[in-house]
Amino acid sequence: MAEKFHRATLSRNFLKTITRIKNPDEMLAEAGGLEKTLGVWDLIILGVGAIIGSGIFAIVGIAAAGSADGSSLGAGPALTVSMIIAAIACIFSALCYSEFATMIPVAGGAYTYTFATLGEFAAWMVGWVLMLEYAIGFIAVACAWSNHFVQFLAGFEHILPSWLAHPPAWLVNDVFSASKIAAENPDTYFPQIFGVPVCINLPAILIVILMTAILVKGTKDSAKMAGLMVVIKMAVIALFVIAGAFYVRPENWTPFATNGVEGIFAGAFLIFFAYIGFDAIATAAEECKNPQKDLPVGIIGSLIITTIVYVLVALVLTGLQDTSGVVPSAFLKAPMAYCMSLHNMNWAAGLISIGSLAGLTSVLLVLEMAATRILYAMSRDHFISQRFLRLHPKFKTPALLTWTVGILAVIGILTLNLNVAAELCNYGTFTSFIIVCIAILILRKTDPDRPRPFKVPFSPITPALGIICCGGLMIYKSMQPSGSALLFPVWLGFGAMIYLLYGFVKNRLNENKVHNEIVERKKMELMKK
Ligand code: ALA
Repeated sequence: MAEKFHRATLSRNFLKTITRIKNPDEMLAEAGGLEKTLGVWDLIILGVGAIIGSGIFAIVGIAAAGSADGSSLGAGPALTVSMIIAAIACIFSALCYSEFATMIPVAGGAYTYTFATLGEFAAWMVGWVLMLEYAIGFIAVACAWSNHFVQFLAGFEHILPSWLAHPPAWLVNDVFSASKIAAENPDTYFPQIFGVPVCINLPAILIVILMTAILVKGTKDSAKMAGLMVVIKMAVIALFVIAGAFYVRPENWTPFATNGVEGIFAGAFLIFFAYIGFDAIATAAEECKNPQKDLPVGIIGSLIITTIVYVLVALVLTGLQDTSGVVPSAFLKAPMAYCMSLHNMNWAAGLISIGSLAGLTSVLLVLEMAATRILYAMSRDHFISQRFLRLHPKFKTPALLTWTVGILAVIGILTLNLNVAAELCNYGTFTSFIIVCIAILILRKTDPDRPRPFKVPFSPITPALGIICCGGLMIYKSMQPSGSALLFPVWLGFGAMIYLLYGFVKNRLNENKVHNEIVERKKMELMKK
């Protein structure tokens, strides 16, 4: 029976309360509100849709040749090795995700798994950290989408009116890029309020609103739309690999590791961003028709497909462009399109721009969906308002919650520094991967008899390797001076404060309510007798 909450609980049973786990059976009993529409192919499409995006269309150039300011070393042709290292780090966690997703197929992913193993406080913190991965990642990718869109419009300058082909800078940038642009080109016009430049990244805001509306309309429709985007982006990547293969110059592959082991690891950290997203499939577990069978295939299958695609792209890219010296800035921004125009295939470069827009669109869709599904599970657990559990009467999706995430993302687009946002997204992902690996080890001990339709092979070695790989890459990054390395602990501290002031109290009040209901019911039963 639930304990009655009063002030003393805060000190007396505090530790016991915040580490109280939620039984997986209870989670399974509560689940079931969302419609079950997703099959194995929908999952693979969602996975590939979530994974292949700005990582391979933009970041890959910096991972190969290093950043323009020298803050990140390039791996050179050994980028293929960096990609395999990042993929291996993900595979260990993907196996752990699969075991959990088949054992507790309910919405919420890593958040749910933590509640089943480490208790209430850790679960809240993981949910909070996952917002870095999905919600902040969503904002970062929306702004990358805006950059690609502006580039795409510029490609049509001969047909489009000039205001559309080259829109005013204040309508397509965030306020942080604005100050950089103003410093480089003082003639650029920015309206000002009290001396502060006003910037509205309109394409990013519009794509966020469009994605939100599609998600509200339905998960199945969203998967269909992601499917279309996946076909387009895979087609242009295939075009790049096949057309580019004819122009590869094997001499560009030597020296192989331009900056030695350090360059390979710097590349692995950067390109890790390109793999983020496979875990989003687990958050949709409750909407799977056959989660036990389909989820592991969806998670691991999409990761293997993307690894093969990435390695092929890296081979062709570094064969087309010598990455051992200084490379043109166009290569760093849009490497695949640049290499195509280098060999006079402008038509292919144009198609690649369309493909990258499609790629980023599907990433956006899945990241927003994952953010809403985690918040949905958190609302069910009384961490946030229960109003968010309300489903749309017609579409059966959490409409209020989805629009809330969309509106918060718009606020983020207007206020956040995007480089820092993207790095914070990596921190959030590493943390959640590590916690899922730890949680697998704990549940194997505390609940060994629970049916596990999929088991992580060679446990405890596999989860331990997952912890070491992700932890190692995270420590590597923390040793470099950066804003995100400082902001990450601030984000954690802020999350802990919100839990203590709101989530903890709200959960206890709910326990009171449950307690009173049980007492009332018992009284009625006694009176009847
Ligand atoms: N993996 C996703 C991308 O590369 C986040 O855009």
